[in-house]
Amino acid sequence: MTVVGCGYLGAVHAACMASVGHQVVGIDVDGPKIESLQAGKAPFFEPGFEQVLQEALATGRLTFTTDMASASGNTVHFVCVGTPQRAGENAADMTYVNAAVGALAPKLSPGDLVVGKSTVPVGTAARLAAIVAEHEPTAMLAWNPEFLREGFAVEDTLTPDRLVYGLPPTPAAAATAKAMLDEVYAIPLSQDTPLVTTDYATAELVKVAANSFLATKISFINAMAEVCEATGADVVQLADAIGHDARIGRRFLNAGLGFGGGCLPKDIRAFMARAGELGADQALAFLREIDSINIRRRVRMVDLAREVCGGSIVGRRIAVLGAAFKPNSDDIRDSPALDVAAQLQVQGATVTVTDPEALTNARRVWPGLNYADTALEAATDADLVLVLTEWDQYRSLDPGDLATVVAGKRMLDGRNALDPVRWRNAGWTYRALGRP
Ligand code: UGA
Repeated sequence: MTVVGCGYLGAVHAACMASVGHQVVGIDVDGPKIESLQAGKAPFFEPGFEQVLQEALATGRLTFTTDMASASGNTVHFVCVGTPQRAGENAADMTYVNAAVGALAPKLSPGDLVVGKSTVPVGTAARLAAIVAEHEPTAMLAWNPEFLREGFAVEDTLTPDRLVYGLPPTPAAAATAKAMLDEVYAIPLSQDTPLVTTDYATAELVKVAANSFLATKISFINAMAEVCEATGADVVQLADAIGHDARIGRRFLNAGLGFGGGCLPKDIRAFMARAGELGADQALAFLREIDSINIRRRVRMVDLAREVCGGSIVGRRIAVLGAAFKPNSDDIRDSPALDVAAQLQVQGATVTVTDPEALTNARRVWPGLNYADTALEAATDADLVLVLTEWDQYRSLDPGDLATVVAGKRMLDGRNALDPVRWRNAGWTYRALGRP
């Protein structure tokens, strides 16, 4: 098989598919990334990935190249390239998907299957199927959205919650495409992974609907946090209590700085943009509010920093623990933590950021901030410490140890990750979003 696009999604997919016995070629236009992958070195931080990559390379079933000609002779071709937000717009930038399929289509042989995994506006699969058919009338296209989470990418790829196949409209092509995908996913299917087969549009929508629901859950609890702040109630206890209702569930009800990353923020915006084009914008008007609630949390965090510093952060030294958009990742795309760090700096504070894995990426994108390798270094002489990404090493920080280096014992917990009693008992001013 071919895997076009070797980012967080494609590289993990390629290595995992090879690890379960398939012959895989990973293709990407980024030369240094391909060299790194071919050398068995992960170009990004993803727990467990490097080991799977090295083991798969050692079997001889996995290779990486920049040359699309290597797709010739393969029978299943996955498209895993990114669909970032277009500059200055909500809609998705389809440049990479179009370029990937444009380059792949001339390499197809009769009976090949192109499988889209990228997150795309509904209607894309039908459009791409026509491009595929123009080059090779007997080749087929299926849409097979991916639900992996960064930080759990290997686990989610090898043992997904469910598989979704968006199949071609003609019954014969649908049956052939399904049989080919069943062979690709023989192992998870043998483990009773639920399979939903649909048309193209439904498969495309499943992905954005899932991410919209997750974003809605997070913004819902963050809206409750705003109300808790206005009343002195505790959003963590509230989430625990409503989460016991199995219809609601406790997962994804962690109030705090809100969602970021390369998926949730841009996916809900692209979904709104696409619904607008389809005349269904009213149906998704609520997602605008989901987005606003999410962004308001970042503003509130900066306000809270000002409040605990006595009304002004000008000239204050602030330590920010966490730069990645979530723990166990080095991804800083739309990172709430870095957004807050940058706003604090713009408003006159001297900000030092630390993160266990994301500092190289952070330095590249935000060269104006100060960086330190450890939490203790970042917090040295700080008037205020903020935990903005809930890495385990920050959750387990000792208030006594940190107290020996800071200038002022003020802690803002942007992820409700610390125990308020423990920090207050150690003499710290502890504040968090949505808690008294
Ligand atoms: C998300 C989805 O969870 C995946 O299912 C999907 O495949 C992926 O997008 C994608 O479209 O490729 P991911 O971006 O890796 O995965 O991250 P999440 O674990 O969903 O977290 C997103 C953000 O929400 C993070 O910033 C996290 O800190 C925040 N979050 C999460 C909260 O603020 N509260 C929560 O309770 C949970």
